[in-house]
Amino acid sequence: MRKPIIAGNWKMNKTPEEAKALVTALLPLVKDASCDVVVCTPAVDLAAVAPLLSGTNVKLGAQNVHWKESGAYTGELSADMLKACGVQYVIIGHSERRQYFGETDATVNLRTLAAVKAGLTPIVCVGEKREEREAGYTDALVAYQTQIALAGLTAEQVKDVVIAYEPVWAIGTGLTATDEQANETIGVIRKAVRDVYGDAADAVRIQYGGSMNPKNCKGLMAQSEIDGGLIGGASLKAEDFAQVVHFDR
Ligand code: 13P
Repeated sequence: MRKPIIAGNWKMNKTPEEAKALVTALLPLVKDASCDVVVCTPAVDLAAVAPLLSGTNVKLGAQNVHWKESGAYTGELSADMLKACGVQYVIIGHSERRQYFGETDATVNLRTLAAVKAGLTPIVCVGEKREEREAGYTDALVAYQTQIALAGLTAEQVKDVVIAYEPVWAIGTGLTATDEQANETIGVIRKAVRDVYGDAADAVRIQYGGSMNPKNCKGLMAQSEIDGGLIGGASLKAEDFAQVVHFDR
């Protein structure tokens, strides 16, 4: 059985003071969660919230990581720097980074390898654009994105990777993939992992992301292939995020 994992992606929201307030409100609401809970804050908030999360059931995540250990990479953060701030998870290859910041499947792979090497758990994002779904490319595309992202990892390492299936057309739009659409495509992603890594695919947790909220989380989480959620907008309100965390109530 795969343990469900609900992660908040705060994106570019919350100053350190606001971040502390949100985490302080969230912790009591989710302290008895039965799933893994992660908040992926902006980099400037990591050091502010890490002491609040220490010793709790809520883990700290970052939103990107560079693949080099150090050096002349202005604006970037290494896996070791993130670890030193108490980070355990890192989102890699979010569609917003692919769309606005030149992220490619090749750099997603480099970041994933660096994260795993440093002992961070990557949350690798894959997903198709609306026109790609309409043209019938979804399955081939997500399989390809997944296999390139993981290339170079061993089957043992792959077991601990988290994958987030985020259809780009469902992000921040209020449009959600139907439960069946999400389940089917996540099944395709798991098969893509299985084709390369065999039974390790059964251990990989694959989240759905894209306008997931307190209303639709139960239906999505009831699907056989869906092991969690990567939550954007609804993770910015403690009560809403807590309701998603408690999808099983
Ligand atoms: P929304 O939940 O705001 O649609 O964002 C989803 C997402 O991109 C999470 O990474």
